[in-house]
Amino acid sequence: MITIKSRREMEKMARAGACVAAVHEAVREAAKPGVSLVELDRIGAEVIEKHGCKPSFLGYLGYPAVLCLSPNDVIVHGIPNDYRLREGDILSVDAGAIYEGFHGDAAFTMAIGEVSPEARKLIEVTEQGMWAGIRQVRKGNRLGDIGAAVHEVGSAHGYGVVEEYVGHGIGRAMHEEPQVPNYGEPGKGIKLRVGMALCIEPMFNVGSRHTRVDPDGWTVRTADGSLSAHFEHTVAITPDGPMVFTAGPEPVPVD
Ligand code: MF3
Ligand code: CO
Repeated sequence: MITIKSRREMEKMARAGACVAAVHEAVREAAKPGVSLVELDRIGAEVIEKHGCKPSFLGYLGYPAVLCLSPNDVIVHGIPNDYRLREGDILSVDAGAIYEGFHGDAAFTMAIGEVSPEARKLIEVTEQGMWAGIRQVRKGNRLGDIGAAVHEVGSAHGYGVVEEYVGHGIGRAMHEEPQVPNYGEPGKGIKLRVGMALCIEPMFNVGSRHTRVDPDGWTVRTADGSLSAHFEHTVAITPDGPMVFTAGPEPVPVD
């Protein structure tokens, strides 16, 4: 389970998180019309190595790349391929890194050049959904408070909130207990305590919440072909309060 037992361990989580934040920055900078997804994956690998970290996705259950890169109707787990980005695309970028045995995991969705108002709004609202969930990550709250807050944001805008893929505990492994669904009942579920680290990761679809997986066994798409966005941060309840570990070079306190 997810409890972090010492400042030393928190510090390692922070280093892994800083690495993931640096990957995000580099990919955000490089992702432009004409750039291919495998080129972006290469950049991710270089940044992780430069930070003295290891990629956590590569080889995980046989996953063949460093990043998950999920354009347009791909929700999550898109395998970087030769596809070249085009003006008007949206792209979800998911990265994970390990520093001395401790994990960071985070994702964001970006616009490639000018995108439709519909796409821009989806990206904004999905990020808001993530922050609504993150604000519930504090001592004494319950797991259901997180999912309820995330879901409310998505459903208020009429988006399909994906249920088959969920957030998770994180620490010595990328995926630890508990699962953190993007729906729930306030006041229900396990109590949140100091030392817990969780990944909060909503996936919102313009259309229905339903998903399907490509024959490659990884690429998850919206069942109806509509656009999808995904945001994720690694958050821990430290002795000094909740901190986001994947937002920049240092942990950032939650308001
Ligand atoms: N970031 C994803 C998650 O939060 C993990 C990617 S799955 C992998 O669960 F296989 F690509 F590693
Ligand atoms: Co995750």
